[in-house]
Amino acid sequence: MQTLEIRPKILYYGTPVALIATANEDGSANLAPISSSWALGYTLVLGIGASSQTYANLVARPQLTINVPSPALVEHVERLAPLTGRDPVPAEKQAQFRTERRKFEAAGLTPLPSLEVLPPRVAECPLQFEAVVSALRPLADDGFAAIVEARVLRVHAHAEIVAEREHIDVAKWHPLLYVYRHYFGRGTYLGRTFRAETSYVVAGRDR
Ligand SMILES: Cc1cc2nc3c(=O)[nH]c(=O)nc-3n(C[C@H](O)[C@H](O)[C@H](O)COP(=O)(O)O)c2cc1C
Repeated sequence: MQTLEIRPKILYYGTPVALIATANEDGSANLAPISSSWALGYTLVLGIGASSQTYANLVARPQLTINVPSPALVEHVERLAPLTGRDPVPAEKQAQFRTERRKFEAAGLTPLPSLEVLPPRVAECPLQFEAVVSALRPLADDGFAAIVEARVLRVHAHAEIVAEREHIDVAKWHPLLYVYRHYFGRGTYLGRTFRAETSYVVAGRDR
């Protein structure tokens, strides 16, 4: 296989979109899309830009909700994309972003009170996690972003994606993927790992 050495501006090869809700200093909620996240047990590791309102809120009030949208919510996500809760807009964002403090309204999304943390959940997102910050540190090589460890306290899922009480029904759950700044839905089913505890069932057929 021939390869080319290239230097793309970004390395975002494809991860699900998540909407992070945090508490502003006045008690209102901020909401921002991210795609830098992954799960290690009940910890979600997030990459958060240091000039964002999300970062400032997490440092001051270390509670959050992580809400995972389905492909049906892509337009709501993109409505949030050019917004920041920061006022004034940070210098590096000034050409493309504007300040918006009422993010839920701007996105056309519904805040749902959380059970254990201050920031609300996003009612329309099929997966909603309530979490507290357990660690936060700037990137070692560059202060443009921070690594945030979020310990998940509670998991909420839309009833239609829950199977056998404690599992996510992978035939019904579709994340929204962010691939080199483009949005995709999920592809076709390819199989399961040897440790999968559930089946992929479509139209009554177990695979
Ligand atoms: C699909 C998508 C994925 C994004 N991923 C991230 C990310 O992983 N981390 C991050 O800090 N910003 C990410 N951003 C950019 C933030 O959403 C943006 O900086 C926003 O202004 C932050 O809002 P805030 O300042 O109100 O917190 C992403 C934006 C979009 C649209």
